[in-house]
Amino acid sequence: MILIKLGGSVITDKSEYQKFNRDTVARLADEIHRSGQRVIIVHGAGSFGHVLAKKHSIQDGYASDDQIPAAARIMSDTRKLSSMVVEELLAHGIPAVSVAPGSCFVMEDGRLIVDNEEPVRRLEGIGIMPVMFGDVVTDRRKGFAIVSGDQCMEVLCRMFNPEKVVFVSDIDGLYTADPKTDPKARLIGEVTRKKLAETSTDETVADVTGGVRSKMEAMLRMTDGGRRCYLVNGNAPNRLYSLLKGETVTCTMAKGGME
Ligand code: IPE
Repeated sequence: MILIKLGGSVITDKSEYQKFNRDTVARLADEIHRSGQRVIIVHGAGSFGHVLAKKHSIQDGYASDDQIPAAARIMSDTRKLSSMVVEELLAHGIPAVSVAPGSCFVMEDGRLIVDNEEPVRRLEGIGIMPVMFGDVVTDRRKGFAIVSGDQCMEVLCRMFNPEKVVFVSDIDGLYTADPKTDPKARLIGEVTRKKLAETSTDETVADVTGGVRSKMEAMLRMTDGGRRCYLVNGNAPNRLYSLLKGETVTCTMAKGGME
C-alpha cells in the first residue's frame, strides 16, 4: 500500500480563499486509479484552512471566545474541501470516504494522540479508502489546535506500514532555497540523515531553511525500516502516475531512516 498526501498548494490556490483546483484533483485521481495501486490519501487544507486559521490565530489554541466561530467555520470549510476531493476520487473509480481527524484523534498541547483507530482500520480493510485532512481538532490543554495533513501522514504511516510514502506538492522537490524567488536554489535529489546534518543554515534564506529542514525531518521519520519517502510535483502531468508505477522521476527522495 502507498500513503499519499495531496498538498494544499496543489489541490487549492493558496492565495484565494476557498479556491479548489478541481481539474488538477481530477487528473491526480485518474493518475492514482490508473496506477492500480492500493493507496491511502491525506490532503492538506490549503486556502480552505490557512486563510482563516492565520487571521484568527487558531494555531495558538484558544485565547478568546471570538475565535470559536472561526474555528467552527474552518472545520466546515475543510469538510467541504474534503467532500470535493472525495467526489473526484469516486468519479475516477476509487471508493473513498472523508474521515475528519478529530473523529479519531485528539491533541494534548499540540501532540497528536490516536484516540480511536478502529473505524479507519476497518474502512481500509473492507476496501473503502479513508481520506484524512489537515483540520482544526480539539486539544485537551489548548481547547483546539491545528492538525496538519503531515501529522496525519505520520500517524497513518505507523498504523498501516505502507511500502512507500508520497507527498504531492506544487514544486519538483525540496530545494536549498525557495525556487520561486531564488535563482540559485538547487533541487535536493536525495535526503538522508547525513545530508540533513550537512544542510547548513546559511545555505538558504532565513525562514526557508526551517521549512526545508523540518520537511526533511518529517520525511526521514517516515523512512525507518527501508521505506522510501518522495516529494513530487503534482502539477506536472503523469509524474505521480510514473512514480506510483516505480519509474524514476524528477523528485526528492528520502531514505535511510532517522536512527
Ligand atoms: C493545515 O493542514 C490545516 C489547517 C490550516 C486547518 P496542512 O498544513 O496539511 O495543509 P497544506 O497542505 O499546508 O495546505
